[in-house]
Amino acid sequence: MSIESQDLDYIRRKFDKNFSFDDKTILITGAAGFIGYYFSKYFVSLGDIGIHPKRVILTDNFLLGHPKWIDKMASFDNVYVENFDISTDNLEDLKHAAEAEYIIHLASIASPIYYRKYPIETMDANIVGLKRILEFYLDKPVKGILFFSSSEIYGTPDGMNIPTDEEYRGLVSCTGPRACYDESKRAGEAMCRSYAEVYDLPIIVVRPFNDFGPGMRLDDFRVPADFAYCVLNGKDIKMLSDGRPTRTFCYIADAIYGYLQALVYGKYDYFNIGHESPELSISEFAMLYQRIANTLYGYEGDIIRVVSEDKHYLTDNPQRRCPSIEKARRLLNFYPEITVEAGIERYLRWLKEEGFF
Ligand SMILES: NC(=O)c1ccc[n+]([C@@H]2O[C@H](COP(=O)([O-])OP(=O)(O)OC[C@H]3O[C@@H](n4cnc5c(N)ncnc54)[C@H](O)[C@@H]3O)[C@@H](O)[C@H]2O)c1
Repeated sequence: MSIESQDLDYIRRKFDKNFSFDDKTILITGAAGFIGYYFSKYFVSLGDIGIHPKRVILTDNFLLGHPKWIDKMASFDNVYVENFDISTDNLEDLKHAAEAEYIIHLASIASPIYYRKYPIETMDANIVGLKRILEFYLDKPVKGILFFSSSEIYGTPDGMNIPTDEEYRGLVSCTGPRACYDESKRAGEAMCRSYAEVYDLPIIVVRPFNDFGPGMRLDDFRVPADFAYCVLNGKDIKMLSDGRPTRTFCYIADAIYGYLQALVYGKYDYFNIGHESPELSISEFAMLYQRIANTLYGYEGDIIRVVSEDKHYLTDNPQRRCPSIEKARRLLNFYPEITVEAGIERYLRWLKEEGFF
């Protein structure tokens, strides 16, 4: 069984057994990106267990390219793939959008290298695009709107706030090179709260903490993809920082299961989704790649320090990122199980299986 089939099976097994997407219409924005990949595959894979969403509408403006996999999805009778910009196009014109009961708003570039290249588009997707969604669904029988915020809204928490729970207020710059992302996520969250309060919309906010794995492109410029690119090319692993910033990483199959639990939660709330441990320095994460690639493929590269060509690569880069997921455990029954080691191995094997190397 391929890594992807195993992962989809895992997500289906973990997701709430009392809930079914049978006959439901789901709309995804930003579907062509990393997280959209397994979301899209998941909804289609439900057919394997006799569950048939009525429609799965996959939309993206393909700002970062038009992947082949998404066009293949259109061969399924219940899947619609549309070139649609959530910040400028009208949802009224999008076929079947009015019938969607579940909306997953992923649209917004997530990789710092790219969102710094498209700062205004990034802000628009998180604020203007979000507002267009909320306005459109005000008078429709929508059951869940999932807004993708980010762990970046916290900035670098002080040691007292590690692990970071949802009530920590954050320490971020509104003028730095990451502000387009961090502050538009914060504004988006405030908008979600306001619309939920005034219109009683079932909006759920999730704050992902460093997802990685299948679907993440090798030219994504986030650390897990950069390291995978190096080890699978037999090159030294290039670290673009001093290796000291820390993160916890969440394998995408666990993350998707968490997001699905949130999507069907039914009422306004906000959740960290990720892993509580281990909190690894980037050096330690690089060493894991080195070791796992050695076991899998006999990789013998070193770990080296390189200065990024992007002069803002490290500006306002959070030094620590580690969530408390106690709230998601308690209210969403979210229990991620896949270790970071297993996740790295699965990602590397998936890249090989999919012919990237
Ligand atoms: N992956 C993570 O670890 C992570 C962490 C924190 C937050 N998030 C959030 O999750 C969401 C998805 O993340 P991802 O990793 O899949 O990002 P990604 O950058 O891989 O994909 C984002 C997709 O959104 C599309 N997009 C951008 N603007 C659009 C617009 N106006 N209309 C339609 N499509 C548009 C892009 O073309 C791209 O396909 C984003 O909102 C991101 O901020 C992700």
